[in-house]
Amino acid sequence: MTGHSPDFPGSVLIDADRLASRVAALASEIVGDMGRDFLVISVLKGSFIFAADLLRAMHMAGGTPDMDFITLSSYGLGTQSTGEVTVSRDVDVEIAGRQILIVDDILESGRTLSFAKDLMLSRQARSVKTCVLLEKPGKLAVSMRADFVGFECPDKFVVGYGMDAAHAWRQLPFVGVVEE
Ligand code: IMP
Ligand code: MG
Repeated sequence: MTGHSPDFPGSVLIDADRLASRVAALASEIVGDMGRDFLVISVLKGSFIFAADLLRAMHMAGGTPDMDFITLSSYGLGTQSTGEVTVSRDVDVEIAGRQILIVDDILESGRTLSFAKDLMLSRQARSVKTCVLLEKPGKLAVSMRADFVGFECPDKFVVGYGMDAAHAWRQLPFVGVVEE
């Protein structure tokens, strides 16, 4: 599978094969570090495909994780993620005493992941680790590093594999860059 799509007006940055092998390696790394039992919290909407693939890869790596979801929005316009993060739909499980892995699509300013981590710590999580598919270097606005990173991402707006540009292109089975 080449990852090409006739309808996508852009280029493939990370194809489906590279995504699958990196996700498998990440899952082994995570289970090796965190053990079998932990709670995965997928940050919606952008991480839903990554988190679903990661969860299945964790099973193959011997993990038995639980899964929940939180929808976070950062106040901002267009492709700029700036400002305040809010919870638009919360998890519905108990966090206190649990070992948590927060999964998001991209770490850019770090505000989203930092907000999510602080929220889980304020709810008395036993430990909180973070995993992102992509990290855009040099864009941090807060002090935040992810514990597990899939790929370094160039400073371009990417779509696909769950990530959108104005609600489009989440369905792409690869990570692509839209031509301006
Ligand atoms: P941060 O809070 O600045 O770290 O931004 C992270 C969030 O911004 C991610 O969860 C994405 O929702 C969004 N984001 C940042 N860059 C991109 C991109 O290139 N494509 C799609 N979403 C992005
Ligand atoms: Mg997001």
